[in-house]
Amino acid sequence: MRWWDLGPVLELELELFPDDAWSAGMFWSELAEAHPGGSRHYTVAETPAGELAGYAGLMAGRFEGDVQTIAVAEGHQGAGLGAALLTDLITEATHRGCEEVLLEVRADNPRAQRLYERFGFETIGIRPGYYQPADVDALVMRLELPAPDLKDPRHG
Ligand SMILES: CC(C)(COP(=O)(O)OP(=O)(O)OC[C@H]1O[C@@H](n2cnc3c(N)ncnc32)[C@H](O)[C@@H]1OP(=O)(O)O)[C@@H](O)C(=O)NCCC(=O)NCCS
Repeated sequence: MRWWDLGPVLELELELFPDDAWSAGMFWSELAEAHPGGSRHYTVAETPAGELAGYAGLMAGRFEGDVQTIAVAEGHQGAGLGAALLTDLITEATHRGCEEVLLEVRADNPRAQRLYERFGFETIGIRPGYYQPADVDALVMRLELPAPDLKDPRHG
């Protein structure tokens, strides 16, 4: 994801997260950290015609990765794009040497939960009323990552 993607990203964000959409400023500050060596990794999925179909972002610390956001346009859902975006984030976290990936998901979003469970995420906690003003709980889910391959040149 680059700054020139932000117009369509914000449109899709509003469509998919009408209650708690991120602002342009939030995406800008995330992208400001998405340079080589920065703490963020953001990616987009596009149609062959170059239209935005989805996006996802990771915050990577020394030991822990966090899925910041993941979204697929309604007309493109169910075709494996969500899985492809999540694979990209997990691969990035693994290459960076993270030991685990964490995320929060609305308790009333079974579809997203199923996607995460398919990847091996397990629910490790609940944050009551995390999503306001709707007062919906968040499930905290965690995926343990395998140790990085030390032969990979990215690990020096
Ligand atoms: C959650 C979300 C990202 C999943 O994206 P997606 O592209 O639909 O995900 P996938 O296609 O990889 O998997 C979803 C379903 O499609 C099915 N599927 C995957 N590939 C498929 C294919 N080639 N053909 C048909 N179905 C397929 C999967 O089995 C899965 O089935 P399920 O509904 O029983 O779980 C998407 O629904 C979304 O953006 N929702 C709104 C925003 C949101 O809730 N984001 C998550 C916030 S935590």
